[in-house]
Amino acid sequence: MSRQPMDPPPARFWAVDDVHGLDFDPAMKEMLAEESLARIRLPHGEGEAWLAAKYEDVKFATCDPRLSREALVGRNVTRLAPHFIPLDDAVGFADPPQHTRLRKTVSKVFTTRRIAQLRPHAERIVDGLLDEMERCGPPADVMAHLNTPFSLAGMSELMGVPEEDWPKMADWTRKVISAGVGRSSSERAKDEIGEYFDTLATRRREAPEDDLLSHMAAAEREGELTRRELVAFAVLMQISGMNSVRFNSANMVYLLLTHPEQYARLRREPHLLPQAVEELLRFIPHRNAVGMARVATEDIPVGRVTIRRGEPVYASYLAANRDPDRFDDPHALDFDRGFNPHLAFGNGPHYCVGASLARMESEVMLRALLDRFPDLRLAVPPEEIRWRRGELIRGPEALPVAW
Ligand code: HEM
Repeated sequence: MSRQPMDPPPARFWAVDDVHGLDFDPAMKEMLAEESLARIRLPHGEGEAWLAAKYEDVKFATCDPRLSREALVGRNVTRLAPHFIPLDDAVGFADPPQHTRLRKTVSKVFTTRRIAQLRPHAERIVDGLLDEMERCGPPADVMAHLNTPFSLAGMSELMGVPEEDWPKMADWTRKVISAGVGRSSSERAKDEIGEYFDTLATRRREAPEDDLLSHMAAAEREGELTRRELVAFAVLMQISGMNSVRFNSANMVYLLLTHPEQYARLRREPHLLPQAVEELLRFIPHRNAVGMARVATEDIPVGRVTIRRGEPVYASYLAANRDPDRFDDPHALDFDRGFNPHLAFGNGPHYCVGASLARMESEVMLRALLDRFPDLRLAVPPEEIRWRRGELIRGPEALPVAW
């Protein structure tokens, strides 16, 4: 094949219409098949952007230090949501070495060992929630009984948010991650969570407890991060930690119930569960379109095209997870996939803070459903499930089940 430089391909306008159910976005599939990085325009912001879809391109775009998150601050780049999700001082907008410094302030709380210690408590919460679902009897909305309250409890407890404030937290985070409630409502909710964590951090600084916010407040006292950085980081963790697990795990339940042979297999072969969770993570189209861009700080040749200094570049972890050059039969849900280097939690310095927590919580939920409800099934035909519309993260509105 000729390696002659080529002009940037024409940009496609990616309207990001709601994709049905958990179907893979056809636009993503097309971009995966393109020869070079793709060019896109999204519904909000200005101009065009590059998009890395292939696995190797995504790995490059998420690791190369010439692609900066800090350079994105203040730029009205083309994007899916009317607003940016993180506050300006958040870890998501930082580059190394500031980024490394910020991440270090929470890394102790997210070690595999520490997360394993949280598991028995998580199992007790799930048991209590499922007792209640059983008492209510079928049909029951498993999201309302399990995925939503468990992800809210898991993240809020870890963070140190008192239980009486959980409903407020649920409402704020819903508004922040929604593409549909309007920019001003989302921005206001983001500020309100910020003020809330600011006040709580002051309390934890004076009287520390064994929670994430106390660790962060201690790091602040040691001069490892500023109050603004602490608040922005806490807001981002609370929002991501709750909503990602909530919808991702609901999607997992939906996929298992629409693949009953896989559900039955996981009951027969319980040791397969961790591997199945990895495959579900790879397979689930977690979000619509793409998250936050990075901006080139110099000209960067990639294959036959050149990313120019100042241009935004997106990386699609979802597309990479379906790259046929990396995964055999990528559109099949296959629990026998041994080696599964999926990018569902991202790649490079911005790799998900909460990956081990999310894995543990997903396993605990699925294990409990499998153990307690051998005949769990959808209570309505799959076509009748209502899916979230106009949102950033994909998932069902509700998941009625019977047993
Ligand atoms: C199944 C659930 C989850 C999925 C699929 C997920 C996915 C991701 C992805 C793809 C990224 C990288 C984004 C990028 O490149 O900038 C990310 C970053 C992040 N995630 Fe998660 N996540 C999940 C759960 C969680 C949980 C439980 C937390 C709670 C702490 C969390 C907190 C964060 C934070 C703070 C970042 C930003 C990290 C940084 O910029 O350095 N996520 N997540």
